[in-house]
Amino acid sequence: MMKKILILAATLSIAAGGMMSASASPQSDLKAFRAYFKNKFPNVKLQDYKNGIYALDKDRYEAWIEFESFAPPYEGGVEVGKKLFNKPLPNGKTLASCFKNGGIGIRQNFPYFDKKTGKVITLEAAINKCIVKNGGKKLKWKKGKLAAISAYMGFTSRGKKINIKVPNDPRALAIYNRGKRHFYAKRGQLNFSCADCHVYNAGSMIRGNLLSPALGHVTHFPVWRKKWARKTAAKKGKSGPLDGFGTLHRRYGGCNKQVRAKPFKAQKAEYTALEYFHTYMSNGIAVNAPGLRQ
Ligand code: HEC
Repeated sequence: MMKKILILAATLSIAAGGMMSASASPQSDLKAFRAYFKNKFPNVKLQDYKNGIYALDKDRYEAWIEFESFAPPYEGGVEVGKKLFNKPLPNGKTLASCFKNGGIGIRQNFPYFDKKTGKVITLEAAINKCIVKNGGKKLKWKKGKLAAISAYMGFTSRGKKINIKVPNDPRALAIYNRGKRHFYAKRGQLNFSCADCHVYNAGSMIRGNLLSPALGHVTHFPVWRKKWARKTAAKKGKSGPLDGFGTLHRRYGGCNKQVRAKPFKAQKAEYTALEYFHTYMSNGIAVNAPGLRQ
């Protein structure tokens, strides 16, 4: 297996680097990114990229959509997220008080660049900030309650098209470029970049997994994964509705580990920058959270 991976790496290094140009603007990056996938998968429609690997494989799609439409396992977790969202915080206010439109149908605008602070704010960061502002205790970043609230907010935003802005502000561009560098940089003992697996080898198999295209990746986060549900239930000795949930930064950590690189901390500058770039690349694709995945 190792040999196979190394061979893959050798073919990859030829392909890599083609799309990344330091002087490109976010707009031209997005155009090139979409064009690459359009050329690679001429039969996949832009909106279908929200389905991850299921956009590429008909048999898998059919098994998945049946499961997804008939009592999806994340349903109970989304209900819990809704209750938490509407539950008064210690000072009596709810999460709705911190968001435009009371927090409903707004997922597509996150993460966003905040002119006042010069920082990029993810949805999870905004939720935790609101909790603390109203007297509550910060929730853990990668799973559990925070992921459930985020999943509920994503669920209310289904069908809204991702609309990330990178304003012409050097601070916003610096964060965008940091995320872009992360995405194309080779790392870990296996020396793979995100792009090696999710751009140049999207649609190929690796260690028994079909590799999803990075286009549309973020649309369905947080996701509900069977693997995470099993793991959490085994750890606790019983299963619960939030067990399968994980945020995008949880997934980033898992993918960094796959190439034996040390994951970065969730919601710190590195992954926030990656999320900013990664989400911008999916502009125009509809939100479909929470996604159901293996
Ligand atoms: C060695 C190959 C490899 C590398 C490198 C890699 N991933 Fe992954 N990634 C996978 C596999 C395998 C899966 C599970 C199957 C799938 O959905 O692609 C996955 C899944 C994902 C998913 C979930 C897709 C979905 O539809 O739920 C995201 C998001 C993701 N990766 C992002 C990244 C990012 C960002 C990086 C770089 C930090 C990265 N990956 C690096 C192999 C890789």
